[in-house]
Amino acid sequence: MTKRFPEGFLWGGATAANQLEGASLEGGKGLNLADVLPGGKSRLNVMSQTGFDFEIDESKYTYPNHVAIDFYHRYKEDIALFAEMGFKVFRLSIAWSRIFPNGDELEPNEEGLAFYDNVFDELHKHAIEPLVTIAHYETPLHLIKEYGGWKNRKLIGFFERYVRTIFTRYKDKVKYWLTFNEINGATHMPLFGLGFSPDSEETRMQDSFQGLHHQFVASAMAVKMGHEIIPESLVGCMLIYAPVYSYDSNPENVMYVRQEADIFNFLCGDVQVRGEYPYFAKRYFKENNVELDIQEGDLETIKEGTVDFISFSYYMSRTDKKVKSPEEIGQGNLIGGIKNPFLKASDWGWEIDPVGLRISLNELYGRYQKPLMVVENGLGAYDKVEADGSINDDYRIDYLSEHVDQMREAIEDGVELIGYTSWGCIDLVSASSGEYSKRYGFIYVDKHDDGTGTLERKRKKSFYWYKEVIATNGENL
Ligand code: BG6
Repeated sequence: MTKRFPEGFLWGGATAANQLEGASLEGGKGLNLADVLPGGKSRLNVMSQTGFDFEIDESKYTYPNHVAIDFYHRYKEDIALFAEMGFKVFRLSIAWSRIFPNGDELEPNEEGLAFYDNVFDELHKHAIEPLVTIAHYETPLHLIKEYGGWKNRKLIGFFERYVRTIFTRYKDKVKYWLTFNEINGATHMPLFGLGFSPDSEETRMQDSFQGLHHQFVASAMAVKMGHEIIPESLVGCMLIYAPVYSYDSNPENVMYVRQEADIFNFLCGDVQVRGEYPYFAKRYFKENNVELDIQEGDLETIKEGTVDFISFSYYMSRTDKKVKSPEEIGQGNLIGGIKNPFLKASDWGWEIDPVGLRISLNELYGRYQKPLMVVENGLGAYDKVEADGSINDDYRIDYLSEHVDQMREAIEDGVELIGYTSWGCIDLVSASSGEYSKRYGFIYVDKHDDGTGTLERKRKKSFYWYKEVIATNGENL
């Protein structure tokens, strides 16, 4: 039996403005969170610590996001390469601080708006549909420093103005929108999604869930506004999804991972897709001393602004148990847990689990019965340019083909999957490590961790592989 992808399946690639554009102070753009995050291994420490000061200190650190891969000036060349692979869709984010440099102005920055007009026009010239993330770890720095990020309810109003501006401006150019990138990652790393560094470990949960509540209201407002301003638009949520496996069949462990999965994988989705806090939230909040300030009208807004589809990133699964030995702690993935003896890991310790993608698709579809889109998936790896200029990234082809094959299985299972945008279709700056050397792309970019490099683009072996995948609608892997 030949397993097929549906007609019109949206094949493409995914990026985010801060990891791609560079030109951090050009075109009237203001600084945002990513502009103050250092490059290299220290980034993760900075992100996890409490009390980060959000200052730039060039005597100590490098700031790769300032230049990124210079998409700001090279977007035409890059989009032509995406078109050559046959992309049907390209996921990018709008940098909020290009449109409102400080975030709290009343009038937008015309130069920033014009830049995205040009990018969308260029995409349409090549029949590529833009898929736009409205907020991808790019909170304007001023909103962080002056207001304390999403902890502060005022951000809902600033976000509303930003969203109204971009919906009105791009209503004829953009149909697919995502509100907050990986919204459920917030409690792990509030700095990224919520734009604040916890004052202390004691306040982390309270502040994170309050920030999330503000984002739920803001996201629901955006969905409602999208439907009013762009009637044919589809507005989705975006989750970081990882199935959570019990280490063994001990019911204590099974219950533990079930609760972990409820909080990590489903709480945000339940609010954004079903329009209400799930039944298990009450007890969890109580036991973690979380008392939400929910204002009049918030729950109605959340109810009315449920999303049209669910998008998610998939990189890894998580294996866990209730009581971990000191040696087991820290052996798991970026998102916690312990080592899974059945899985290999990437050079950055992210466990590779293609079947976990099929499990995720079934879990999400089983729970929500809404169309799904995988908007991030890929292998961060070191690439080598051979003497003849070729880049033979067979490891990436293996990784991706195994994951695409599992999507095909999930479609056979009955899951409604409408698109796939692999992460970092062109090499870019890593979000967690600020490295150039953690490469995901089909297109190599000559830029290195020490800041050297010409920024020249080269097609990797995987470029030709993906082109064939798209041309055969997923038949030739
Ligand atoms: C996702 C983010 O978590 O993972 C992206 O949405 C990020 O911004 C991607 O780049 C891969 O992570 P990393 O740390 O390898 O860049």
